[in-house]
Amino acid sequence: MRCLAGSTAVLCGVLLLTGCGSGSDGAAELSVESAYIPQPVSDTMAAGFLTIVNKGGAKDELTSVTSAAAGSVTLHETVGSAMEQVASLDVPAHGQLVFKSGGNHLMFEKLKRKPVQGEKVAVELHFAESGPVKVEIPVESAVYTPKTGH
Ligand code: CU
Repeated sequence: MRCLAGSTAVLCGVLLLTGCGSGSDGAAELSVESAYIPQPVSDTMAAGFLTIVNKGGAKDELTSVTSAAAGSVTLHETVGSAMEQVASLDVPAHGQLVFKSGGNHLMFEKLKRKPVQGEKVAVELHFAESGPVKVEIPVESAVYTPKTGH
């Protein structure tokens, strides 16, 4: 009987642990989709777009983006017809943060050289809670529009 009781206790413990770990209440679970940089006209500046998907039950915040290819990468929001630099952008729980033409975008400045179609630009996304996420963003044609349903 002692054995049985012991194993039941262990089993309960395991169930509790799994309950905590898989329940998506704890943390953000981030992944990146549909990333692209339209080949820029400028030698020094480019815009970048991507979708950050959060499958977790906690929100997070994109706080900065870094890239060895650019002197600075800033987060921009489009308000009306003007764009504004922002310090961070929310990634909602069970939601997504979408960067798209005419909306939020990444602004690469002081590029070391002009990104050309077919190349990839490595960036690192930094978040308030989650660890950094590395993405290789493909450079597409200047008129590329993604076929995403977002
Ligand atoms: Cu901008």
